[in-house]
Amino acid sequence: MTPAAGPLSPVRLAMQAGPGQPDPSPELGALYRGFEEELLVPLWTEIGDLMPPHPRSKASPHLWRWQRLLALAERAGRLVPVGRGGERRAIALANPSLGGRPFATPTLWAAIQYLMPGEDAPEHRHSQHAFRFVVEGEGVWTVVGGDPVRMSRGDFLPQAGWHWHAHHNAATQPMAWIDGLDIPFSYGTESQFFEFGRERLGPAEMTRPERSRSERLWAYPGLRPLSQPATLPATPLLAYRWADTDRALAEQLALEAEGHDVTLGPGHAAVRYTNPTTGADVLPTIRAEMHRLRAGAATRTRREVGSSVWQVFDGQGTVSVGERSWTVGRGDMFVVPSWVPFAASAGAGASLDLFRFGDAPIFEALHAHRMQVQHDAPPQG
Ligand SMILES: [Fe+2]
Repeated sequence: MTPAAGPLSPVRLAMQAGPGQPDPSPELGALYRGFEEELLVPLWTEIGDLMPPHPRSKASPHLWRWQRLLALAERAGRLVPVGRGGERRAIALANPSLGGRPFATPTLWAAIQYLMPGEDAPEHRHSQHAFRFVVEGEGVWTVVGGDPVRMSRGDFLPQAGWHWHAHHNAATQPMAWIDGLDIPFSYGTESQFFEFGRERLGPAEMTRPERSRSERLWAYPGLRPLSQPATLPATPLLAYRWADTDRALAEQLALEAEGHDVTLGPGHAAVRYTNPTTGADVLPTIRAEMHRLRAGAATRTRREVGSSVWQVFDGQGTVSVGERSWTVGRGDMFVVPSWVPFAASAGAGASLDLFRFGDAPIFEALHAHRMQVQHDAPPQG
């Protein structure tokens, strides 16, 4: 009879003296070899890593400069075709502590996507939830479920999983934007499905309407079409326009200046993109927000369960994530891992607009979300 795994066992156990640990001895060593052969791991050697007092993310705080991302995406635009198989000219952020995988955080994918003039990205669908956010440029229509949706600077374009989608660049200029998805979450939980769609869209889908059908049906504050389901798990609205987001933020700061308590903190306006049928997050796994700091204002330091990716939409300022700190400008992207303190401040002469997406809905659904907001000194540990 051969051992279950023998010398090929991936289990490796070392005797280590310490509180609550057995004294090293030849008998203990033999016991651990027996565990290794039978593919067994005792809790007492693992508990510090498996059950720490608070989340210790394997991801690192990291910043990617937009100008460098854009320059490399432009080079990819000249070298890499967009077509069936590769599907998208999307280049993902790889967190330096996640083994070179295309994972910005353990749950989130963040990529720059680049489309040359006249190019079409083929139709497909996947169970992963997705969105596009446009930091600059225009001219691409994303076609979701047969509905062409204009993409312009500052627009947030969510797309719930399992909807057919393709892209079409009708402009004479290339266009870049960012894609956010829950790909690492789906990968880690082995819950993903994918299907190829048509090679070519129909003529009605190649049109360039100013407003998508979804906006014509859903984009009226406080008004729900009675022909549609009362609640949907993800937003049916395919575009949240910059003009609305900008005005919501500007009005919060204007109301604050008039003496009303409507901001997150002094000079810190913030809005969350929501599902108009529920008021909850736009997507079941992804939260998205826009924050605006008045010139010279700063956020409170906060940390929470789950990770986020941020992109500077406009302005200049400083952000700190754990031990790291960067001066940031338009388009720069950075990662805030789980339970790592985050704060931002706008420069003295300019406001700072920050787009943010994160995985909080997953943890809220599981009743596993926690957040700490520091009102004085930054949090320790
Ligand atoms: Fe896709």
